[in-house]
Amino acid sequence: MIPQTVQWAGDAVKMIDQTKLPHKLVMVEYHDWHDVAASITDMVVRGAPAIGGTAACGLALAGRQIAEAGGEFMPQFLHACEVFAATRPTAVNLFWAIERMKGVALKAPSASEASRLLRVESELVLEEDIAINRKLGFYGQELLPDPCRVQTHCNAGALACVGYGTALGVFRAAREAGKQIKVYADETRPRLQGMQLTGWELIEDGFEVTIITDNMAASLQSRGEVDAVVVGADRIAMNGDTANKVGTFGLAVISNYHHVPFYIAAPLSTFDQKLADGSGIPIEERTHREVSHIQDVQIAPNGAKFWNPGFDVTPAALIAGIITEQGVLRPPYTQSIMQAIKGAK
Ligand code: MRU
Repeated sequence: MIPQTVQWAGDAVKMIDQTKLPHKLVMVEYHDWHDVAASITDMVVRGAPAIGGTAACGLALAGRQIAEAGGEFMPQFLHACEVFAATRPTAVNLFWAIERMKGVALKAPSASEASRLLRVESELVLEEDIAINRKLGFYGQELLPDPCRVQTHCNAGALACVGYGTALGVFRAAREAGKQIKVYADETRPRLQGMQLTGWELIEDGFEVTIITDNMAASLQSRGEVDAVVVGADRIAMNGDTANKVGTFGLAVISNYHHVPFYIAAPLSTFDQKLADGSGIPIEERTHREVSHIQDVQIAPNGAKFWNPGFDVTPAALIAGIITEQGVLRPPYTQSIMQAIKGAK
């Protein structure tokens, strides 16, 4: 079984080192909150809900370290919040987790109480993530026929969350409901999360998985090989526009052309209530080395220029449904998203 992606081990934050997969399953333990923040920047841990869970644990660790060291608690804690907020820009779950932890610290009567309550809250964030994914998986699996050939992009699995997964959680729930599921995984250049992470976790879990390079998606769908597409999300605007791993938008266009339903699976913590549409979503620009090199070997000619956005925004009009823990949201999203958020309160 795949270990929980992010967890507590005594006073340390423990996680799967995703940079080592699929070749080695290595667990790392961090005793200093600065290292937990660095694990997000360095993509030891990645995927929107996993980043949120990691930030919650990292801030709980910060709370303990600050309380033990003494001095005024809140200014030091707010500094730690800023460090976490600067790790990666696109996944809103990071900022959601920071705000949640900040709220706990602000209400605490003393540094030692803040430290204790932050730890409790971080454990709650981890537990809730798995419960939410199981719930959205249950709603999502009802959309899939039996048997079903599904396609996904990047990794929106147990590795991208605390456990179970969002898009891959839907596939797991479908299998648990007795359905026969075959998965096509896009390799997801430039960092290959689809091949290395989705491929690994689905094989570990006994799924039949076929890996394709990203540019094969149109050919595959034109042959009638895909019944549905389910992907995750890093940030969803209030009109349903959805940021996810770069290449998702292209896959949505291909799916719509072929009349293959294109679904997003995400917890409500992925909705950005401050954004009316996707135009304001910050898109992470990453190093050109991820494009020019594959596993440290340069594959591009010297002298070329590169562009490497980590994410793209799929317009709501291309999305057949958004699978959440409150059920499957349908267009018009401005209304269904508001209702789901109200229903969750
Ligand atoms: O750059 P990454 O690997 O953090 O990007 C991850 C994705 O784009 C996932 O699809 C998204 O976070 C959804 S995870 C349930």
